[in-house]
Amino acid sequence: MKMHYAPSTTTTLNNSEYLYFSGTSYYSLHSNKQVINSSIKALEEYGIGSAVSRLTYGCTPLLSELENKISNFFNTDDSVFLPSGYMTSLASFKALIILKNIEVIYIDEGAHYSVYDGARATGLPMIKFKHQDADDLESKLKTTVLKSVIATDGVFPLFGDIAPLNKYEELLDKYNALLWVDDAHGVGVLGKNGRGAIEHHNINNERVFFGATLSKAFGSYGGFIAGTEEFIAEIKNGEVVKGANSMPTAVMGASIKGLDILKENPEMRNNLWDNAQYLKQKLSEIGILTNNTVFPIVAWQMEQEDAMIHVKDALMKRGIAIQQLKYSGSKGGALRIVTFSNHTKEQIDTLAKELKEALAGV
Ligand SMILES: Cc1ncc(COP(=O)(O)O)c(C=O)c1O
Repeated sequence: MKMHYAPSTTTTLNNSEYLYFSGTSYYSLHSNKQVINSSIKALEEYGIGSAVSRLTYGCTPLLSELENKISNFFNTDDSVFLPSGYMTSLASFKALIILKNIEVIYIDEGAHYSVYDGARATGLPMIKFKHQDADDLESKLKTTVLKSVIATDGVFPLFGDIAPLNKYEELLDKYNALLWVDDAHGVGVLGKNGRGAIEHHNINNERVFFGATLSKAFGSYGGFIAGTEEFIAEIKNGEVVKGANSMPTAVMGASIKGLDILKENPEMRNNLWDNAQYLKQKLSEIGILTNNTVFPIVAWQMEQEDAMIHVKDALMKRGIAIQQLKYSGSKGGALRIVTFSNHTKEQIDTLAKELKEALAGV
């Protein structure tokens, strides 16, 4: 299916308008006029891009402004903007090898592709632990004296489940380990200030590192890592940054506005959490198993893939787009529904009513 314009609560797919409950634009900022105008302004002021890495001339005032905004939002010393969220695990693991001498990576078996690829690219031994299982992790940490990093998503993208970071944190001192959190989905959504899964768990620990993306909640594109001066300097000095052109100015302009909007309008987060609760209540009323976190995703599996495709297609015919997909962390795929901060209760009611009928037809 082709999307004709950036998503919001309704979106045009293949020339027809649908109620849209998919993807990751949690505040519909990808189609927000202020974000778009900020992107246009950046383009006009700075052109397309610097066509050189930041190693020499690629660090524009716009890039510095963006990185300041990111560190300000996350209350860290510094930050670095990267070509994609996908690159953040690799860039961080490389820096942690140099700065902290890590020798082994413990990885949640359901971690995102990018965490796996980043870990593999280091060439370090990788030990998987059971999905979100701190006991299994501890039993494995006990078997080695090597300096380790534990790697996980902050929020898992398909089911929207939040990693038990507080349980992992308890293991860090005991096993002289570090924690790496790919918080692509958590940032902007979780925590009192929208700082993500780490803030959600009230963690403030120098052994904990994180990176994320601006391509979801913040309405833009591109990855970032925020942290201590030493850590960020090492990443800025590393190959992932040195070996790539600076990012296009259009996404920097959009990112700056996306960060501003979410910082200045905390009520948007409350609306999102409120919609998440409402969605979960409505879907549990029609027999779908949901968790009770504030994360705005409900996903579930049916035994037969055909049945899931049937439900998705039946909803499509009723003018509603949800996702049926196989993605990292799932065996056999799932049906996935996402609510945004600006969905109305009536839109969620419509979804629940139509979904009930679609499920009855399986
Ligand atoms: C958990 C997770 N990490 C990383 C990424 C990659 O981020 P980006 O799209 O900015 O490359 C995604 C998806 O986009 C994701 O779901």
